[in-house]
Amino acid sequence: MLENVKAIYEEINQYNVASKEELEQFRMRFISRKGVITELFDGLKTVPADDRRALGQELNGLKNFAQERFDLFSQQVEEQQTSANSAPPVDLTLPTIPNLTGTQHPLSLVRQRIIQIFERIGFNVADGPEIESDWYNFGALNFPDNHPARDMQDTFFVAKDSSNPSNDMLLRTHTSNVQIRLMERQKPPIRSIMPGRVYRNETISARAHCMFHQVEGIYIDRNVGFKDLKDTLYHFVKEMFEPGTQIRFRPSYFPFTEPSAEIDISCQICGGKGCNICKHSGWVEIAGSGMVDPQVIANCGIDPEEFTGFAFGMGIERITQLKYVVNDLRLYTENDVRFLRQFEGL
Ligand code: DAH
Repeated sequence: MLENVKAIYEEINQYNVASKEELEQFRMRFISRKGVITELFDGLKTVPADDRRALGQELNGLKNFAQERFDLFSQQVEEQQTSANSAPPVDLTLPTIPNLTGTQHPLSLVRQRIIQIFERIGFNVADGPEIESDWYNFGALNFPDNHPARDMQDTFFVAKDSSNPSNDMLLRTHTSNVQIRLMERQKPPIRSIMPGRVYRNETISARAHCMFHQVEGIYIDRNVGFKDLKDTLYHFVKEMFEPGTQIRFRPSYFPFTEPSAEIDISCQICGGKGCNICKHSGWVEIAGSGMVDPQVIANCGIDPEEFTGFAFGMGIERITQLKYVVNDLRLYTENDVRFLRQFEGL
C-alpha cells in the first residue's frame, strides 16, 4: 500500500492543470469520494491493526497534499479566467465606423447617361480594340497615306510593318475604328454607339491629354438621311443638357463623312453670354458628325447604293466639363479624392 501512496504522490507532482475541465478531472481523480485516495482509505480496513495507525497518517498526509495542490490549481485557473475577462470592455451600443463606399467617376457617370439616352432610341452598345491597325483607324476611314488629317491626330505607333503600312499597329486615335469593325461584321440595319478610350501624342496640360474618351455613334440602313442625324442629335442634347440649350450644326470636314458637320451647343457655363470656356463666342463644340462616305460603306463590304447612314463622335471629357464645370483635364486621372467625392450620390 505504501507503494501506491508513493505512486500517487508522484502522479500529483507531475500533474498540470490549465483549464476548468482539467481542474475537474484532478478533483475527480484525487479529491472526490470516488477518487483514488478515498479508495486507499477504504483499504485501511484490510491492513493489520498494528500498521493501520502509521499508514493512516501517511494517507492523511497524501490527502492534504492533494488538497493543497487542488487549491493552488483552482487559484491559477481563476486568475487566468479573470485576466481574460479584464480585456477592455466592448460597448455594443457605440455607432459603427461608417464603411466608406466609393463614388462613381464623373466620366463613368456621363458615359452611362449617354448610353442610357441612346439605348432608349434603339442604339445598342458595341466595343472594339484600343490597339488597332492603321487600316481600321485610318485607311478604311478614307484617310489616304500622307493625308494631313493623319498629322492632326498625333498617333502613338506600336509597331511598324515596312512591307504593308496598313498593318502598322497603333493606339487608336478615335473610336471611329469600331464603325468599320461593325460594318464588316454586321449587315444593316446597324444602330450602335461605341464608347471607349482613345490616345493621342499630346503633352498633358489642363486642355489636352494623351488619353481620353469618346463615344462614337453610327446608324446605317435604307433611306437614312441628314434629317435623321439632326433629329438624333437634337434629342441627345435635349436629354443631356439644361432645358433651353441651343444647338447648331456647322459645316466641317472629316475624311469619312460627306457632308460633315460639327455640333455646337450654347455654352452651359455662361448660358451663351460669353466666357472663357466658350472663348467668348457663346458656343462650344461637342461632337463631329456627318453622312458616312459611300466609299467607307463600300470598304466594309456593304452596298452604298442600297444603304446610307450617319455617324457622330463626341468627347466624354468635353461633355463632363460642360455638365460639371471641370476645367482641368488632369483632374480626371489624378485620383484626388477631394475632386472625386464631389460626385458622391450622383
Ligand atoms: N473621329 C472624329 C475625331 O476623333 C470624330 C468624328 C467626327 C466621328 C465625325 C464621327 C464623325 O463618327 O462622323 O475627331
